[in-house]
Amino acid sequence: MEITQHHKTALLFGASGLVGGYCLQQLLKHPAYQKVHSFGRRKLDFAHPALEQHVIDFDQLEGYKALFLGQDVFSCLGTTMAKAGSKDAFRKVDFTYAIETARLAAEQGASQLMLVSSAGADTDSLFFYSRVKGEVERAARQLPYWSLHLFRPSVLLGPRQEQRIGEQVAARAMKSVSKWMTGDWLGQYRPVEAEDVAKAMLAAAQRLEPGPFVYRSDEIHEMAQYDKRLR
Ligand SMILES: NC(=O)c1ccc[n+]([C@@H]2O[C@H](COP(=O)([O-])OP(=O)(O)OC[C@H]3O[C@@H](n4cnc5c(N)ncnc54)[C@H](OP(=O)(O)O)[C@@H]3O)[C@@H](O)[C@H]2O)c1
Repeated sequence: MEITQHHKTALLFGASGLVGGYCLQQLLKHPAYQKVHSFGRRKLDFAHPALEQHVIDFDQLEGYKALFLGQDVFSCLGTTMAKAGSKDAFRKVDFTYAIETARLAAEQGASQLMLVSSAGADTDSLFFYSRVKGEVERAARQLPYWSLHLFRPSVLLGPRQEQRIGEQVAARAMKSVSKWMTGDWLGQYRPVEAEDVAKAMLAAAQRLEPGPFVYRSDEIHEMAQYDKRLR
């Protein structure tokens, strides 16, 4: 397997979302990438010469496998229980779609997977959301990637079009104390800008070291600050 640093093709899942949107912007201006293939259930209201958009049916992923050609996979898919409407529907997006897209891309030769999980991801958690995220991480570790980067953000900060009252209240409350949220335990719950998650994902992909790597929320924040200082 050849691990390249330039002229890479990125495969992006979830570009219409908050983290995914920032990932797309970052990818399109990053010198390591010459092409970005974005996969979603709807077309983005955005065009760029390096961007190729694919509207796909996530329940028929096998049929799109031939399009999953690239080195680095950025996976930002996800929903909420409120939007999904049931545990099964939530699991289908956050687990099945995330793992199946990554599995098919690996079969097509992708070597690095950058996947957004969540703070508290744990297969033994009492909380369904955290359990599913733990299961995603476990399944991702079993995929044949040369390098795997798992991101565990806490509450995401950033402009969202839709109203998510609970998240917004938590974000406001935690943002005011976030600079004191340090250390292994509190640091994992530090709220983080969605844009910083995207920056950390791109920075991780340029490490070119065999994974797996897991990044806590405070580490994601730090990676993005370090990346800003370098540029
Ligand atoms: N929100 C938080 O505070 C938080 C905290 C920790 C971790 N996370 C995790 O971080 C990740 C990214 O979060 P985010 O807030 O950026 O997500 P988001 O804004 O809700 O975007 C999610 C993406 O997944 C796609 N998606 C959702 N349901 C789909 C379906 N049924 N079929 C196909 N695509 C579907 C969305 O497409 P459409 O635009 O077409 O719906 C969108 O592109 C998620 O895995 C989330 O669980 C979030």
